[in-house]
Amino acid sequence: MSAPKTFHVKSFGCQMNVYDGERMAELMAADGLTQADAADADLVVLNTCHIRERATEKVYSDIGRLRKHGKTPMIAVAGCVAQAEGPEIFARAKVDVVVGPQAYHNLPALVAKAAEGTPSLDTDMPVLSKFGALPARRKVSPSAFLTVQEGCDKFCTYCVVPYTRGAEVSRPFAAIVDEAKALVDAGAREITLLGQNVNAWDDDGKGLHNLIRTLDHIPGLARIRYTTSHPNDMRQGLIDAHGDVESLMPFLHLPVQSGSTRILKAMNRSHGRDDYLRLLDRVRAVRPDIALSGDFIVGFPGETEEDFADTLSLVDAVGYAQAYSFKYSARPGTPAATMTDEISEAVMDDRLQRLQAALNRDQQAFNAASVGRTCDVLLERPGKLPGQLIGKSPWLQSVHLITDAAIGDLVSVDLMRADPNSLAGVLAMRAAA
Ligand code: 5AD
Ligand code: SF4
Repeated sequence: MSAPKTFHVKSFGCQMNVYDGERMAELMAADGLTQADAADADLVVLNTCHIRERATEKVYSDIGRLRKHGKTPMIAVAGCVAQAEGPEIFARAKVDVVVGPQAYHNLPALVAKAAEGTPSLDTDMPVLSKFGALPARRKVSPSAFLTVQEGCDKFCTYCVVPYTRGAEVSRPFAAIVDEAKALVDAGAREITLLGQNVNAWDDDGKGLHNLIRTLDHIPGLARIRYTTSHPNDMRQGLIDAHGDVESLMPFLHLPVQSGSTRILKAMNRSHGRDDYLRLLDRVRAVRPDIALSGDFIVGFPGETEEDFADTLSLVDAVGYAQAYSFKYSARPGTPAATMTDEISEAVMDDRLQRLQAALNRDQQAFNAASVGRTCDVLLERPGKLPGQLIGKSPWLQSVHLITDAAIGDLVSVDLMRADPNSLAGVLAMRAAA
């Protein structure tokens, strides 16, 4: 196989994979390759997700599809499936490179080796060395991601992340501030700080709230967000920052997974239902308009109808602005995978439907309650209609409007109408940049 001249990166799963995908693209571009569509590229990087079985299976169907094309590209499997399955991938599918999420700075060398005909693999997990080896940030969209923390020490019994992403590691304060400045220079006006447990970020006792307070002073950076957080790492300093840091957006994604203390215990979440609800009270005390988001799993082994009723009543008590919900998927190697008392697919389907109906109801109510407000919207992309742009409200709602403003502008918008998944607005007046 000759050395590839063009590449395409396809990311699955979470926002950290989106960030990693962008960084891999920057790396390949710095190595002299040109970006192309998946159908034309000489090298396709599949940046994979291992969180649920269906996500993992998607990789293999994608490889099959790529191999069916007349022109067969070089295929690199990156991301969490690469980490979890390692050399087994070579046995299961014809791929050229397997590279884990902590080793992708070595992608150019692995690709060069594969071009010489040797399938190549790197699933080492050296702590943080990849960041120093990556090229500087190029042009980015108005809303950019920045990984500040990786890995997880929580070991929830259903979850593969501690195995695929490794132990909790925080990037150093100075490196993050430098990357944030580079992102702003490259066009970002909003930065979302990413980590599997981002609120556990720490550098010598500084804590995430100190990082946010420093980033708040970067000229041109209008908005700061962070995701994903664990309830047990939600410290008072961070809660206080929601009360007085203007650029910190009023949005908190705080997964709870279940409303049943009994199930939370079996999940090893190390907090109960009431701890979670009391925590949200403290956040709402400093920022009453905060939009709350969560993740839920239905059908964890042993979940009774009573446990599930506790989840529904927690949803009622919180009133989420948005949330993600999943059927439990047994993952090889996790403690929950050996638990008996599995819940049938039919019961899981039924519970997921009921949960999603409740979450949709609350999302609609939250959006409907926004109508009549005036808020800043960061314009991120063109809409379907001529002259239409789509951006985000402070509460992470998509807002579309007809405007002659430009992508990257922060504009003041009167919210006029709530549609099922977005809001329609009109320009109130151009906000000061
Ligand atoms: N099955 C179903 N959902 C899962 N999640 C994590 N592991 C599993 C699993 N084994 C969900 C959790 C987590 C989100 C990223 O994915 O809700 O917060
Ligand atoms: Fe997985 Fe739990 Fe860690 Fe989140 S906190 S990444 S669900 S182990």
